[in-house]
Amino acid sequence: MLKIGNLGIDEIVKEFGTPLYVYDEVNVLKQICDYKKYFASEKFDTEIIYASKALDIKYMYELANKAEIGIDVVSGGELYGAHIAGYDMKKAYFHGNNKSKEEIDMAIKYGVKTIVVDNILELKYLLQNVKVEFDVLIRINVGVSAHTHEYIVTSHPDSKFGIFIEDAEVDEAVQLLNKSENLHFKGFHSHIGSQIFDMQGFVIAIDKLFDLVKKYKAESLNLGGGIGIRYTDEDKPLSIKNACEILIEACEISMKKKDVTIKKVMIEPGRSIVGEAGYTLYTIGYQKVTRNKHYYFIDGGMTDNIRPALYHAKYSCDIASKLDNDKCIKATIAGKACESGDVIIKDVMLPKADKDDILVVYSTGAYGHSMASNYNQNLKLPIVFVNKDKAKLVVRRETYDDLYHLSVK
Ligand code: LLP
Repeated sequence: MLKIGNLGIDEIVKEFGTPLYVYDEVNVLKQICDYKKYFASEKFDTEIIYASKALDIKYMYELANKAEIGIDVVSGGELYGAHIAGYDMKKAYFHGNNKSKEEIDMAIKYGVKTIVVDNILELKYLLQNVKVEFDVLIRINVGVSAHTHEYIVTSHPDSKFGIFIEDAEVDEAVQLLNKSENLHFKGFHSHIGSQIFDMQGFVIAIDKLFDLVKKYKAESLNLGGGIGIRYTDEDKPLSIKNACEILIEACEISMKKKDVTIKKVMIEPGRSIVGEAGYTLYTIGYQKVTRNKHYYFIDGGMTDNIRPALYHAKYSCDIASKLDNDKCIKATIAGKACESGDVIIKDVMLPKADKDDILVVYSTGAYGHSMASNYNQNLKLPIVFVNKDKAKLVVRRETYDDLYHLSVK
């Protein structure tokens, strides 16, 4: 029987049922610890900022608070979640390309100290309307986009995010901030992509960013997130140690080459903190054998994991009680939503399953819960954190009343 922490999956299911997200808390803490340990330099201060969009539950804000790391929040909802979790909001970085007045007011009320400005109109709005002090980072589109195994150096300024590095607006933004009494220009932010294995994109981005650091005497630089994780055997991620060493080295080399100093460099990992620590447990119900496919139907699907349908994301899985059985069936794992695209894994070799076997899908910890939906009024899953011998419910299962409690008529 497969275990998460020291607990057998059968025990976990007996207590909490399926479908269920389970996290190995020790693994989450280890990732955070590794980032803190290896993203370090003698030449500048460093900071780890958890990109909370990967799993924006109260419990993660609590863990981030205990670990004394920063958080990246992008909405009123995330600001609120972090605040009610007791997170020290001074350490939150408020992102977003279209922050509303209400959200900015929330950030002020909760004591957020740093805002990452996405575009020039946002900056002008802040300059006119915000009277409290904020540290400001300007988000830059460096013209490098990294996707998984390759990086693409583009010269297209058409990303939704940030000010394009070659635009005059970069200069305008810094000059405007330098004239402000309460909004303090601190430096730049860049995020080049997600699920990245080839670090060359980062190296190129860092080199370009240090030109800006020098030109505008920036104090700090935020390199964004994006470090890739292992979903299937095809993925060969770098260790956090390796990835951090490459980033730190690239910064130190750029600094030397350009003869520039910097006070602080930050990174903003999300997926690589919670992704591999997360498992989704499903119960297998019926099976269907058609001419070309052998379906195993599960009690969840695209409503708890939209990534296969949205990005053709690949996952790996096992039948928890049949780890040593012969993998003789080429199965397709389909969910229960009324949507033919509701397939979690296509054509995966698995043992012959029986009704009520538990299927465990690996590495579902990032962007599963946070992108979940109630399509077909399916209930959102509870979340359990396992720490060695202890399992703790941190998000309860939705109820049918929860589904309809917003209806006012
Ligand atoms: N910082 C910024 C500004 C970001 O936009 C993101 C992710 C991160 C950090 C964290 O990136 P990570 O380390 O998690 O790769 N829903 C997609 C991922 C979207 C990522 C958006 N931004 C998915 O499920 O793959």
